[in-house]
Amino acid sequence: MPTATQDTWPLATPRIRIAPSLLAADFARLADDVAKIEAAGAEILHLDIMDGHFVPNISFGIPVIEKLRQVSRLFFDTHLMITEPVRYAEPFVKAGSDLLTFHIEVSHEPLRVVDHIRGAGARVGVTLNPGTEVSALREVVASVDLVLVMSVWPGFGGQTFIASTLDKCRALRGLLRADQRLEVDGGIGPDTVAAVVRAGADTLVAGSAVFGRADPGGAMRELERLAGRA
Ligand code: DX5
Ligand code: ZN
Repeated sequence: MPTATQDTWPLATPRIRIAPSLLAADFARLADDVAKIEAAGAEILHLDIMDGHFVPNISFGIPVIEKLRQVSRLFFDTHLMITEPVRYAEPFVKAGSDLLTFHIEVSHEPLRVVDHIRGAGARVGVTLNPGTEVSALREVVASVDLVLVMSVWPGFGGQTFIASTLDKCRALRGLLRADQRLEVDGGIGPDTVAAVVRAGADTLVAGSAVFGRADPGGAMRELERLAGRA
């Protein structure tokens, strides 16, 4: 059985955190972009891994994480949009991922996936697509460190926030302990950030709204300010 996760971990303290998504960064200048958000006080870097099977797109992989690990102390929050999370868990952890989030849609025995990721040495998140009900997480929700609610269909940055996500956040908040994070991913920006926080989310992925701006550090701080007004 997966172990309980009430011990201390870097994101155990509830706080609103923006998790900039590398997907919207300048891929010719990744280290520079990461340094900008780190200097602005970020704690988390969200890393979107796409395999061209689970989602109709391919992003980047293990060697990129390995290299970024050498230049960054951020918490590497790795979102596996891949059909075989168990197969690749160990190499992603070895490369420097601190947490691996797997999709419930490809996991018939989710508790075994949780065990496997923990065994590889990382914290564990589980996520669900916009078309998947919260009840799909029933078996696994107490055993993970983080639940990620997709607020767009995964595969691409820059999409429009799906409003029904807010009901899912409210439902999940009631199921999670204080040391478990509730993360939302897709379409988060100045117009949506306060609503997701009011619905109970604490960890807010933002790609285009951070790295798509001329001043990523300033854009991240502005999102934090707007989230604080919720
Ligand atoms: C989508 C990814 C997201 C994406 C968010 O498949 O999981 O993390 O980078 O991008 P924005 O913030 O631009 O919607
Ligand atoms: Zn993501």
